[in-house]
Amino acid sequence: MISRWCEFGNRDTSLRTQVVIIGAGPAGLLLSRLLSLKGIDNAVLERRSRAHVESRIRAGVLEPGTVELLIAARVADRMRREALTHDGFNLVFDGRYTHVDLKDLAGAPVTVYGQTEITQDLVAACLAANTKLVFEAEAVTPCDFEGATPRVTYAKDGQSHEIACDFIAGCDGFHGVCRASVPPAAITLYERVLPFGWLGMLTETRPVADELIYVRHERGFALCSMRSKTRSRYYVQVPDSDHVEAWPDARFWDELRRRIPGDAAERLITGPSLEKSIAPIRSFVAEPMRFGRLFLAGDAAHIVPPTGAKGLNLAAADAGALAQALASYYGSGEGMALESYSETRLRHVWRAERFSWWFTQMTHRFEGDAFATRLQQAEFDAVSGSRAFRTALAENYIGMFRDKSPS
Ligand code: APR
Ligand code: PHB
Repeated sequence: MISRWCEFGNRDTSLRTQVVIIGAGPAGLLLSRLLSLKGIDNAVLERRSRAHVESRIRAGVLEPGTVELLIAARVADRMRREALTHDGFNLVFDGRYTHVDLKDLAGAPVTVYGQTEITQDLVAACLAANTKLVFEAEAVTPCDFEGATPRVTYAKDGQSHEIACDFIAGCDGFHGVCRASVPPAAITLYERVLPFGWLGMLTETRPVADELIYVRHERGFALCSMRSKTRSRYYVQVPDSDHVEAWPDARFWDELRRRIPGDAAERLITGPSLEKSIAPIRSFVAEPMRFGRLFLAGDAAHIVPPTGAKGLNLAAADAGALAQALASYYGSGEGMALESYSETRLRHVWRAERFSWWFTQMTHRFEGDAFATRLQQAEFDAVSGSRAFRTALAENYIGMFRDKSPS
């Protein structure tokens, strides 16, 4: 019988729960919600403040499977009211449009709802359910996860704490402590870093179009995205050596206008930036995703280039799979799903890695590589001229292959 919360003493506190979750990003928060709803005790330890976690600007295109998970986590009310449904998106190659009709080709639309909103909804739901959610936890350290009695230590307001648990979920992102705690010999890392980044800008302006526009242009990639009918999110490809300070708003708008097709440029409404940042473009996978009683989920285990918006969806799918596996372990003592978590998730992760890599290769400027440019041209011809090619793109975009074995 696993005890619920108990505190001993008031200086060094010692606690016990079933699952300690490290990191309150979408992976950690969604996992916490799903576990709590299944009656599994858990605690979430987050290094940053609540305000920081709730204000980070990230992507916002949700696969149908992610929407289902948010519904299962009972955090979908605001999403239902505010989200946009996109039946398709546009690809533009040197001014020429190709429409990818997701609903027609793959049978489902995507949902546009920002990760920032999802995080706020999840935090509110966790707090309303009295989940132990500790912000500004310092020196969080996963311990003894190779044995049967793992624990996590941390400090808060000058006090040290220890939580004994059955399992640790490493949901602490790419720079977190969990993956770094695994002995190097036990982990294999696969990585490709590209020599450019995405400069993103958020503005309170009406989007240029009703659907997203992915643009391949000789000056570099651009993306017209949105968070709502009045809030736009735009990106331009920049060298990885660039700094945000070199990009005042006026320069950003000029560059975007030069890359997007003429009709969109005419409709473009500019305004001051609410946020502007540069994200590196990286593909990364850590294998396996389980080390004894430590399970990795989300960016802690894998990163995809943002083209195709798979990062958040993968993190959510990890959380869903881990919650399910833990529920069957606690429900019936059945450990099979936990045993196969890593292998199952990695199969899906690599499909998303492949897709994100392909989509990036097709749409970005690779300096000095004329061969790559000609291949991009052929790739676009294939996509625009062949329903089969567009179907493959659409199926990957809506995440049709999640949790499915290859057939
Ligand atoms: N101790 C506690 N918390 C930590 C630590 C640590 N040592 N290190 C990192 N964290 C926290 C971070 O502050 C962050 O809030 O872990 C959280 C990880 O959240 P994300 O980076 O958002 O990762 P994840 O939940 O896997 O979500 C992935 O976010 O980065 C995007 O594109 C990515 O959309 C994808 C999604
Ligand atoms: C975003 O809106 O931030 C976004 C949309 C689609 C992507 C990547 C990012 O492929």
